[in-house]
Amino acid sequence: LARTLTVSGASWSTPATSFPLRSYGRARITRTYYGKGAYHMDGIGGYDYYEVKDSIPITSLRLGGVEWMVDDPPHWLGLQLIARECRGRVLCVGLGLGLIVFALRGNSAVSEVAVLEKEEEIIRLIAPLLPPCKVLRGDFWRFARFHEYDTIFVDIWSGYETRPKVLEMKRALALLRERAPHAAAYLWGLRDPLFNPAYRPAP
Ligand SMILES: C[S@@+](CC[C@H](N)C(=O)[O-])C[C@H]1O[C@@H](n2cnc3c(N)ncnc32)[C@H](O)[C@@H]1O
Repeated sequence: LARTLTVSGASWSTPATSFPLRSYGRARITRTYYGKGAYHMDGIGGYDYYEVKDSIPITSLRLGGVEWMVDDPPHWLGLQLIARECRGRVLCVGLGLGLIVFALRGNSAVSEVAVLEKEEEIIRLIAPLLPPCKVLRGDFWRFARFHEYDTIFVDIWSGYETRPKVLEMKRALALLRERAPHAAAYLWGLRDPLFNPAYRPAP
């Protein structure tokens, strides 16, 4: 039996719904609407699909031709589930729309939030819209200070799951195990609830 979440335009919003439609260099915030119908949820929050009753606003972040992030139901629900598991000093890798920073606000077990992002234009566009947090410019694969954090959440991929992407996710986990063995590591995109608390497989 398919597990379906119902979403209604009357009640649906995310922190990005009120973002201004601005751009900075090649980085751009855009907004569209998803119409009535069923969409994939891919096991996020334990749902296979979500059904839009009327229409919902969807905000996205693009850099040049790449859509890096959307605030659709799987992303916003999933990031809130990941935020609940975070503790202490938290490093989020990949700024995107910064939704994870909003999701972490309600978690009193979190003492500090830092975000590592490699694209200057995304930082300039998004960082001013966020609750207090430290934004660092850098590349995940070259970052040298993972040991300063208790929780590390990596979300640096976009688009559909492909085998090379999954292999890269596993490489990212291996790198964190080596550089920050004490830290809890979570990663958006893997279909494994141990590393991705947003994902709940069918019972
Ligand atoms: C899917 S978005 C992150 C969404 C974010 N978690 C949120 O809550 O909105 C991915 C982000 O990772 C960044 N990124 C991609 N590769 C990176 C890397 N190697 N190091 C740091 N950031 C990277 C992209 O520029 C983009 O901003």
